[in-house]
Amino acid sequence: MILKLFVLLLLVSFAASDGPEFIFNGFHGANLSLDGAAEITPNGLLRLTNTSQQQKGHAFYPISLPFKTSSKGNSNTTTLSFSTVFVFAIFSKYPELSFHGLAFTISPLKAFPGAASAQYLGLFNDITNGKSSNHVVAIELDTFLNSEFDDINNNHVGIDINSLRSNLSAPATFFNSEKGVLQNISLTGQPLQIWVEYNGVEKHLNVTLSPINMPKPKRPLLSLNIDLSPFILDTMYVGFSSSTGAAPTYHYILGWSFKMNGKAQELKLSRLPRLPRDGPRKKPKVLTIGLPLILVAVVLVSISVAVFMIRRRIIYAEVLEDWETKYGPHRFKYKDLYIATKGFREKEVLGVGGFGKVYRGVLPTSKIEVAVKRVSHESRQGIREFIAEIVSIGRLRHRNLVQLLGYCRRRRELLLVYDFMPNGSLDKFLFDQTKSMLEWCQRFQIIKGVASGLLYLHEEWEQVVVHRDVKASNVLLDDELNARLGDFGLARLYDHGSNPQTTHVVGTLGYMAPELTRTSKATMSTDVFAFGAVMLEVACGRRPIELQASLPEETILVDWVSQCWRKGTILEASDPKLGSHYVVEEMKLVLTLGLLCSHPVSAARPSMRQVMQILDGDIPLPELLADGSNASILVLGGNEGLDYYSLCSSVPDSLLSGGR
Ligand SMILES: *[C@@H]1O[C@H](CO)[C@@H](O)[C@H](O)[C@H]1NC(C)=O
Ligand SMILES: *[C@@H]1O[C@H](CO)[C@@H](O)[C@H](O)[C@H]1NC(C)=O
Ligand SMILES: *[C@@H]1O[C@H](CO)[C@@H](O)[C@H](O)[C@H]1NC(C)=O
Ligand SMILES: *[C@@H]1O[C@H](CO)[C@@H](O)[C@H](O)[C@H]1NC(C)=O
Ligand SMILES: *[C@@H]1O[C@H](CO)[C@@H](O)[C@H](O)[C@H]1NC(C)=O
Ligand SMILES: *[C@@H]1O[C@H](CO)[C@@H](O)[C@H](O)[C@H]1NC(C)=O
Repeated sequence: MILKLFVLLLLVSFAASDGPEFIFNGFHGANLSLDGAAEITPNGLLRLTNTSQQQKGHAFYPISLPFKTSSKGNSNTTTLSFSTVFVFAIFSKYPELSFHGLAFTISPLKAFPGAASAQYLGLFNDITNGKSSNHVVAIELDTFLNSEFDDINNNHVGIDINSLRSNLSAPATFFNSEKGVLQNISLTGQPLQIWVEYNGVEKHLNVTLSPINMPKPKRPLLSLNIDLSPFILDTMYVGFSSSTGAAPTYHYILGWSFKMNGKAQELKLSRLPRLPRDGPRKKPKVLTIGLPLILVAVVLVSISVAVFMIRRRIIYAEVLEDWETKYGPHRFKYKDLYIATKGFREKEVLGVGGFGKVYRGVLPTSKIEVAVKRVSHESRQGIREFIAEIVSIGRLRHRNLVQLLGYCRRRRELLLVYDFMPNGSLDKFLFDQTKSMLEWCQRFQIIKGVASGLLYLHEEWEQVVVHRDVKASNVLLDDELNARLGDFGLARLYDHGSNPQTTHVVGTLGYMAPELTRTSKATMSTDVFAFGAVMLEVACGRRPIELQASLPEETILVDWVSQCWRKGTILEASDPKLGSHYVVEEMKLVLTLGLLCSHPVSAARPSMRQVMQILDGDIPLPELLADGSNASILVLGGNEGLDYYSLCSSVPDSLLSGGR
């Protein structure tokens, strides 16, 4: 940023009785602290945002101002009066659509740490919004309706204290003193003047808006009795904050005057810099000829538009309850998901899972490819906890997890939006003849990837997340064939239970640890069991349970592998499709570790951290004893370990007869 120092229009005076003041009739050579996209254009406009999307821009008067005075003979302090006036203009590339607005701010720092763009106006983020520690007072000029902040419309002015949920707001209007009427005005498309005045004695704040060619209206737009003292610190910075979202929008300040403890000087409107010509567009003149015809057409069009709108409302209806507003950023609009998936067309179906269909989609504004999972849920019970969990899961970030982007809710239906994985699921690669075969080194990488993702869920995030449904079809492959675990935590929705009578065990046959059928309680250890099954599946190229196996003893994969192991010919279990194209040591490691993880006694299974260390070769594989258990665990597990073979066989049997 080059600060040109000619024509300094800045006048700062610190008179003893009066407070400091300054005036910028245009910003040529002005010494402001700028950040983000904010800049001063060559002709002296302060431009807070440029045409890039999701931008923030800030501009502050560079020195802090004393905002407090201590009353005589009293130790406590009150906030001084102040007044400011500025001219701003907002221009969007798209008519009728402007993102997101700007704000005059009073803040403790020349920055808003961690602030987000878009609806957060560069002021706060989803965590800091509403915190009393912010000490931010802002006047927002908001051109977007954000229901999570109870916005009244997409063209309003608000007084914000520490939060984007305004203390007071009103649609943009001004009082036309000549006509004596209140008139609507659009915040976008034209320069507007605004006055913010606070009286520290009367504890009263006024905000007045007006078109630039009018004298200051006699009636303020917003008038609030409020003592700002609790929110204002001794010294504060004044400035502007702005942000853009999905549509490129310019936010300009043309001139700014401020005075502490007195009335700010009026701006010299004739001296303000000119706005660029691509800004406001003249509205076409209405034709006088054929006006009745046009009217008829307008009526017809409005009727069809109304019908269309009603239809749309029904199609796009969603359920949004008050408690969900805090999840705003994680919430998707049903309309967007509907458009993204072309109306949930069958052609867009990527797969059908236990919980519902998954659709491919392209989000309308960002053009991001996503996978949308449609889960039907009947009961309202537990949905609140579940959404809270979904949102917390949305914060999980790991290269071996499928990123959950957000959700949407309708009656009887929940929609979960995930990153799109172009290569589909692992089971397709293992069993679908049309897919190319995975080489051993790819398979080994995939196993390590899944282990790493699961370890993160179990031990490395702030809370323990049990996946509950680890299986090959929940392992997705990204464009570089990296494994990413999907669908974690979903099983919880069903655990919360629609029907307490049926202890519905969630899981998939062949991946369920034996104790699950007894206790129905998913644990990290049951996840390890399922992971063992996946390892064997990848190494052997066979499903955990093969009902059409040629030999009966080959039906249950883990039994068969343990038989091979017992005979000392464990490599016989390896995928015949691989031939001899594999690393013998690694294959042995995976098969044996798979057996260990799929141990019927939960205490005998390693933790995911141990699994990871073994796979990385950091610790040796524990010795398996002839009965299938490992030495160290025999001490712990006692005799239970001896029943390895029979236990394993009995589990699927009971499940097969019981059904799901
Ligand atoms: C701008 O103002 C700051 C704070 O008063 C000062 O430190 C800095 O030197 C000024 N910069 C210029 C170019 O005048
Ligand atoms: C907008 O500003 C940002 C931040 O300064 C910059 O990275 C980006 O290139 C700018 N975009 C345009 C279109 O000038
Ligand atoms: C501030 O002063 C007023 C009287 O001027 C008194 O009523 C009030 O209790 C004082 N507050 C504190 C926190 O000292
Ligand atoms: C304004 O907001 C502040 C901060 O959230 C809150 O403490 C105060 O009660 C609100 N006042 C009004 C009048 O809404
Ligand atoms: C101003 O806009 C509101 C809707 O935002 C409308 O109800 C009202 O009639 C408008 N007033 C005038 C004078 O156009
Ligand atoms: C706010 O406006 C009202 C009505 O015009 C006026 O009585 C009051 O003095 C104003 N307050 C400030 C702080 O300007």
